[in-house]
Amino acid sequence: MDSKEIEQLVRNEIVKSILETQEFLIVGNWKMNKLKPEVIEFLDDIANYDCGTKNTLVVIPPNPYLYLFEDKLRFSQVLYGVQNLFSKEKGAFTGEISCGMARDFGAQYAILGHSERRTIFLECDVITSKKVRSCVQNQIKPIVCIGEDLNQRKSNDYKPFLIRQIKEGLSRISGNELLNVIIAYEPIWAIGTGETATPDQVEETHMFIRKFLEDEYGSEIGKSIPLLYGGSVNTSNVKELALAQSVSGFLIGGASLNAQTFMEINEILNGK
Ligand code: PGA
Repeated sequence: MDSKEIEQLVRNEIVKSILETQEFLIVGNWKMNKLKPEVIEFLDDIANYDCGTKNTLVVIPPNPYLYLFEDKLRFSQVLYGVQNLFSKEKGAFTGEISCGMARDFGAQYAILGHSERRTIFLECDVITSKKVRSCVQNQIKPIVCIGEDLNQRKSNDYKPFLIRQIKEGLSRISGNELLNVIIAYEPIWAIGTGETATPDQVEETHMFIRKFLEDEYGSEIGKSIPLLYGGSVNTSNVKELALAQSVSGFLIGGASLNAQTFMEINEILNGK
């Protein structure tokens, strides 16, 4: 065995031990995909899946299928949530659902401020921050999405932008409430494009965000907020991305639609 091969072997062992011990939150965002028979097939495939003891798996379907999730995942390790909700408890808000409604069906997570909500439905940080507050008050864990577009990345002024999104998104909660929040860094240029940020780019940005969280909210809270990466994550790139420092898990769109692929991602993140 030459020195290169030995180096590779040692690296493989280190990677395996990191993946075997680090906890990851793996969230699948189905967006507006699947009809009922496909939803049932997915749930039948995943309901009895043994995810292992350290990673948390969450699937986020379109709202009409929550009743199937409640039914089929009743005894499952796999958790679920909603892709959006409104900050009010009830009332004349056509087309919206509340935290209470999501909870009625067993949803435990909510994706908020996704770039598609921001760009297509023109949701701003103020709206997101009100939803974050409502989630925290109603025992739903908000997954607050942030991320720059390609122009901001190229012109190198994305960092103040990310800070603004975090500060404003979290502006209506404080202290220990912050411990319920999850942040997902999703560069818009990497979402659904097949173009992933490199592990170096992810590490650099995540370390920057982590430092900001610690400076802004104190070291204990700043260290504990899970920081997910999202944007064209799949079975081929997830291992390298998982090794980037300060990555606590992934928000996965396209690659979460297939139950086998989603479970395989968890297997990889278990060091298998
Ligand atoms: P993608 O979507 O994995 O298909 O890029 C990620 C997301 O939008 O959350």
